[in-house]
Amino acid sequence: MLRKVSDDATKEGYILIKYIVQGGTKLSGSVTISGAKNAAVAILPATLLVSGPCRIENVPDISDVRLLLEILRDMGAEIHRYGRNTLEIDCSHVRNATAPIELVRRIRASYYLIGAELGRFGHARVAMPGGCNFGVRPIDQHIKGFEAMGANVEQEGGYVCADAPTEGLGGGHVYLDIVSVGATMNIMIAAVLAEGRTIIENAAREPHIVDLANFLNSMGADVRGAGTDTIKVNGVEQLHGGTYTIIPDQIEAGTYMAATAAVGGEVLIKNVIPKHLDCITAKLREMGVTVEEYGESVLVRSTGRLRRANVKTQPYPGFPTDMQPQIGVALAVAEGTSVITEGVWDHRYKYINELRKMGAAVTVDGRVAVVEGVETLRGASVDACDLRAGAAMVIAGLCARGVTLVEDIQFIERGYENFVGKLRLLGADIRIIDEPDGTERGTAAAG
Ligand code: EPZ
Repeated sequence: MLRKVSDDATKEGYILIKYIVQGGTKLSGSVTISGAKNAAVAILPATLLVSGPCRIENVPDISDVRLLLEILRDMGAEIHRYGRNTLEIDCSHVRNATAPIELVRRIRASYYLIGAELGRFGHARVAMPGGCNFGVRPIDQHIKGFEAMGANVEQEGGYVCADAPTEGLGGGHVYLDIVSVGATMNIMIAAVLAEGRTIIENAAREPHIVDLANFLNSMGADVRGAGTDTIKVNGVEQLHGGTYTIIPDQIEAGTYMAATAAVGGEVLIKNVIPKHLDCITAKLREMGVTVEEYGESVLVRSTGRLRRANVKTQPYPGFPTDMQPQIGVALAVAEGTSVITEGVWDHRYKYINELRKMGAAVTVDGRVAVVEGVETLRGASVDACDLRAGAAMVIAGLCARGVTLVEDIQFIERGYENFVGKLRLLGADIRIIDEPDGTERGTAAAG
């Protein structure tokens, strides 16, 4: 990763950074979980719908959020930060319906701008994230929803252009062909200010969907049924400002649970909703890990070798696809043969090649990975590949004998607040290393 260290955008203004991980130390202590990334990246664009200031608490301080704030600011939003995790966003005076392409292309969740701009302005023109085309990461179900509300949607040269009819968006009835988190949230966002009732059937049920509905309702919307497979949105005239606190991040919590399981030790994971972690808790218990639930925390204790298990990822309340690489690393050092079946994404095993460099014995055939547990991994130089795969590589490094270098860590910083700082507080030997001079740095202590 190239990180900018000065305002002078010359080559000298950038340094190359990686994580350096020394394996072998068990984890102990406590870690506080930040706000949910996948809720925040929908709630921030949804502030475009609100007339008045929205005070949003427990916003994770991650690069995806910083990018979205830059996009909103560029569109004319007034944004104030209070401390690390509280923001006040006022989009009342936003007039510019076009989000800047160079920023939009850097974040996948920019597709929520389509629903938000359509709902607010009656038209949207948004570049597809990351230059991906629809064949790679389709949004046909989002479009199906907008069309059900009367919008005309065209795809032109990497842009999605959506226009409401002259009388404005109306209520629609959409049956999703596939359970999609993004489509469910985007249709909800577009429907909030539409005239009449929108019904989304076969909706996704993830905790962040309920969180988005709670945010919208707290600003005056009328969204019912979030968390079930049928969501009804009764359009309202306008949303008003208010205060909202984002839920804790289910996947960040799960990542520290999997890390403790794989590396060994005892960690209290604070600021969680244990119910959201049920599927992860159940799987770790099956693998021989002790998980105790308290009001807003879970204690994870792992001693001795993990047991094998089979994992199939599914939409909530199934085992989350966003935990597949992290649990994959734990299974790689478990006793016996485990089978992972990826039930959501076609290609989510890129990290397996990296794990093999560390001595893991895994074969992949399509959506199925067969993991022969090995006694120990060995340090290597590996790529993060993507956000969760990157976290998994760090966990692998903490389990391994020797030193692991994790590159492309910009993926990890997209979604984990102060990952290195939090792990260091648990006793992990992980540092950020600046290249080419090889300077090692710790990082700010975690809150
Ligand atoms: C969200 O992506 C998350 N991202 C992903 O988290 C997560 O992996 C995914 O949901 C599943 O839980 C955000 O919330 C920003 P989907 P999303 O639409 O909404 C297919 C992470 O690590 N599909 O639920 O884009 C799609 O190809 C990230 O934090 C269509 O065919 O996922 C996939 O196979 C990575 N047509 C499946 O549905 C569509 O119109 C589920 O995708 C939409 C999706």
